[in-house]
Amino acid sequence: MTDNAFDVIIIGGGPGGYVAAIRAAQLGFKTACVDKRDTLGGTCLNVGCIPSKALLQSSHLFEEAGHGLAAHGVNVAAPKLDLKAMLARKDSVVGDLTKGIAFLFKKNKVTHIVGEGVITAPGHVQVGKDAYNAKHIIIATGSEPAALPGVEVDEKQIVTSTGALDLPKVPKTMVVIGGGVIGLELGSVWRRLGADVTVVEFLPAILPGMDGEVVKQATRTLKKQGLNFKTGTKVTGAKTAKSGVTLTLEPAAGGDAETLKADVVLVAIGRRPFTDKLGLGDIGVAMDARGFVTTDGHFKTNVAGIYAIGDVIGGAMLAHKAEEEGIACVELIAGQAGHVNYGAIPGVVYTHPEIAALGKTEETLKAEGVAYSVGKFPFMANSRARAVGDTEGFVKILADAKTDRVLGAHIIGPGAGELIQEIVLAMEFGGSSEDIARTSHAHPGTAEAVKEAALACLGRAIHV
Ligand code: FAD
Ligand code: NAI
Repeated sequence: MTDNAFDVIIIGGGPGGYVAAIRAAQLGFKTACVDKRDTLGGTCLNVGCIPSKALLQSSHLFEEAGHGLAAHGVNVAAPKLDLKAMLARKDSVVGDLTKGIAFLFKKNKVTHIVGEGVITAPGHVQVGKDAYNAKHIIIATGSEPAALPGVEVDEKQIVTSTGALDLPKVPKTMVVIGGGVIGLELGSVWRRLGADVTVVEFLPAILPGMDGEVVKQATRTLKKQGLNFKTGTKVTGAKTAKSGVTLTLEPAAGGDAETLKADVVLVAIGRRPFTDKLGLGDIGVAMDARGFVTTDGHFKTNVAGIYAIGDVIGGAMLAHKAEEEGIACVELIAGQAGHVNYGAIPGVVYTHPEIAALGKTEETLKAEGVAYSVGKFPFMANSRARAVGDTEGFVKILADAKTDRVLGAHIIGPGAGELIQEIVLAMEFGGSSEDIARTSHAHPGTAEAVKEAALACLGRAIHV
């Protein structure tokens, strides 16, 4: 094989692409990963999951220092914000982790090619002046923020999530368009740092698709924290001036327009697949009406030797879903039985408290006519949550009424993102609420709320 010939070339070095590359190398394939960014990790590591979680943690500490410590008998002077240092810490977390992937590539002998990859023909990838070839090409080019007509992003006054991770000063007022995951996470960050934040959501409630009870609790809690919500409202236009942005709003169902002014507007109305300049049209790779690359369920596109994974093929736009697909895709290429269980992929919103969702919601089960049992347990009745002083929320488990097999779980509360994981495992193993209920959980621990919710499915919770 020449230097430019590979078994597998992956275009995109995000969680889907870089994980696929490492797994491909482990399987003995000569592998290259092309990314137009200088650093690996894609959206998630560079401008997504990681910088947002770094800022969520820093802003949480700032808020705790300002308001949360006195109840514990810890009296401190009002904290001072050093935004520059906070942003620099975030950048250094990102920098260290992206270097970590570069190290993993070296360790696994994956060739990292920096530049824009174009698929010129099946088996052929052009990056700048260099031509490469491979038997298998995997498209892992991810997604980009969806645009809102009439609201022109300049990444200064009107920003996407990327700009909202790097604002040079705390805006006095901020409007977030979209009450989804990004809106609530980044809205929380800037609210905690002092901005007056209003979230404008088109639908009647925030977090569409999530369990109804969780949404109600999240709305109540986030309002109490100071986030303002305007649901059932659409933004029809934006005017930018030195003094700020003036948005025109209308009720989603139609009605009188109003205006809303803000120093900064964050547009977070979803993401769309990114396939610009990849050459897919020329070589006939099929895409659906929304631009997602179409695959056959085994990550094969309609063109032999070309596969696709991650955000670019749609479904849950989550880093861990992209990773599972990357691994399954190369295992299938290697003749192994790669598989992704889409029914057991958790989704976590990293607000405080965290919100975690898994499997079916009660609303879906009702719509599907499935007979189910529900077990709910409030963190108010959990001794660890009481000791820590973090009692908002509950665990809710849904199980099949006949077989007791776990069908879904929804948690809002302290560390929900970690607590959900044992239920993911239970679902992955085809477990029942009885299985969780009969598993010993360390005391005192918030995970005991999961055990109690499982017991509640069976009508025998102990502590409520
Ligand atoms: P991406 O990570 O988008 O990677 C694609 C890569 O391909 C990019 O680096 C891009 O530069 C490169 N590329 C594109 N075209 C070309 C080309 N022609 N040539 C070379 N390179 C190319 N998900 C979670 O699970 N948890 C979270 O907490 C979370 N937080 C998020 C926070 C924010 C603010 C955002 C925006 C997203 C967040 N996500 C989170 C979603 C997560 O980032 C994505 O689901 C994930 O990154 C998708 O991975 P991917 O590999 O499919 O694509
Ligand atoms: P989203 O799909 O989560 O939320 C978008 C929201 O905007 C929805 O509530 C939708 O109803 C609303 N909306 C759409 N059009 C609108 C309009 N014109 N006016 C007002 N509201 C409108 O998308 P978001 O927040 O942009 O995030 C994109 C993706 O990134 C998500 O799908 C998620 O998978 C991923 N992500 C994941 C995170 C996590 O796992 N913690 C964190 C951040 C992002």
